[in-house]
Amino acid sequence: APYNEPFRPQVHFSPRERWMNDPNGLVFFEGEYHLFFQHNPLGDTPGHISWGHAVSTDLLHWHELPVAIPATDKELVFTGSVVVDEKNSSHQCENHQPCLVAIYTAHNDTPHHEAQALAVSQDRGRTWKRFSGNPVLDRNVPEFRDPGVTWNDETKSWLMVVSLPNDHKVVFYTSPDLIEWTELSTFGPAATVSGQWECPNLLKIPTADGKQSLYALKIGVNPGSLQGGSGEQYFLGTFDGHHFTQSSDPGSHGWTDYGKDSYCAISFNHLPAGEPPTLIGWMDDWQYADKLPTVPWRGQMTIPRHLALLKDADGLALQQTPVTAPIRAKSTSLVASITQPTTTLFTTDQPTELTLTIDPADAQTFGLRLYSDPAHWTEVAIDRTTMKLSTDRTHATNITAPDFPARTEAPLSPNRPLDLHLILDRSSVEVFAQNGTTAMTNLTMPTTQNLRVELFRTQGTHPLKVIGQRWTLRSVW
Ligand code: FRU
Repeated sequence: APYNEPFRPQVHFSPRERWMNDPNGLVFFEGEYHLFFQHNPLGDTPGHISWGHAVSTDLLHWHELPVAIPATDKELVFTGSVVVDEKNSSHQCENHQPCLVAIYTAHNDTPHHEAQALAVSQDRGRTWKRFSGNPVLDRNVPEFRDPGVTWNDETKSWLMVVSLPNDHKVVFYTSPDLIEWTELSTFGPAATVSGQWECPNLLKIPTADGKQSLYALKIGVNPGSLQGGSGEQYFLGTFDGHHFTQSSDPGSHGWTDYGKDSYCAISFNHLPAGEPPTLIGWMDDWQYADKLPTVPWRGQMTIPRHLALLKDADGLALQQTPVTAPIRAKSTSLVASITQPTTTLFTTDQPTELTLTIDPADAQTFGLRLYSDPAHWTEVAIDRTTMKLSTDRTHATNITAPDFPARTEAPLSPNRPLDLHLILDRSSVEVFAQNGTTAMTNLTMPTTQNLRVELFRTQGTHPLKVIGQRWTLRSVW
């Protein structure tokens, strides 16, 4: 049955069929969330890259629509943004109605060339027309891509952040009309400079109490990220209308996700007032994305995440909270206290969300083992000696894609609470720890759809106590 094949995610977006990579043009407009995505409508490996399209009213139930912007003989349609042109600043909107403008990278293979181009939709994203004056921004270089475009309320102009992948730089541009772009500044090289820099995104993030805000500059690195292959680092700081300046507070640099499978995440434009910044990423890694044995599709997105900024004794932190409220079904409280090495918490064959607060007493390492059969499991653990969170999927699956067997690690803070928040779907485990200040997303591709969740601990003799909540999540298909 459609959307019920082995490994088919039940609470994450995946295309009905064929290849998908990065999310593109996330935007809310007239009651709909739009998810465009890098898509090969003709095959299950990268090629003929076009913008696929899906819409939702709750960020979880997606309805896939026909290809929005197709590749042509002359150009592949690489990653980019969609904005709502409320006031017809581009002079491309008809009948004095707001229209949607896509700013994408027009990619040419021979000769190798990338420049930024526009397409316009007058009908809520259903059909698109390329702008006659394309490209609108060309540096005459082979690699120059992934424009993240937003309306900047402080400067009252459009702001673009776009990547020079091999220079490990992003460039900021401003425009009054989305057509004429003026360079403002560059950022980088900084922190991790291996591979290429891709998919930059600049987001304004309020503190949890809503009283302040900072900017987060998120930059994809591929290959050579912390986790191997593709991954994403962020910088927190200020943007004064010209320059992004990284904050000097501790915590102003980190990895958006410490797992292997979150890449090219971008945030929604034009969200309704009061909705927090919301991020969706590609839940995959370029190391093996085209080798995963899923049929008839390849590629899926992360769960949407609300973002906030935390400031505490440790400094700054980016907080991610998964969006699941619309699909939470049955809820069960969990209370456990263990002195023995392991105990089964529950079994299920449904997608599941779990929140746990842990008082480890004198246990050194503790966490969960997620068994799909007695010989296959994924382990999510906290080691208090090293203060690290880890996800180990080396025993999770029978699939043999290169670099898939892996254990990912993230530093934790001794001062933040020891809690875990997990989203378990048919082929993935997303972990949020310490109040969402650390995220770790990994595909697991387990051997069955059955799950036995075991709590484990090592060392110590005093009872380890867990209080938590478990929700069965309703399939979105
Ligand atoms: C990142 C990326 C982007 C590019 C797109 C092509 O995954 O390489 O830089 O625009 O994929 O599909």
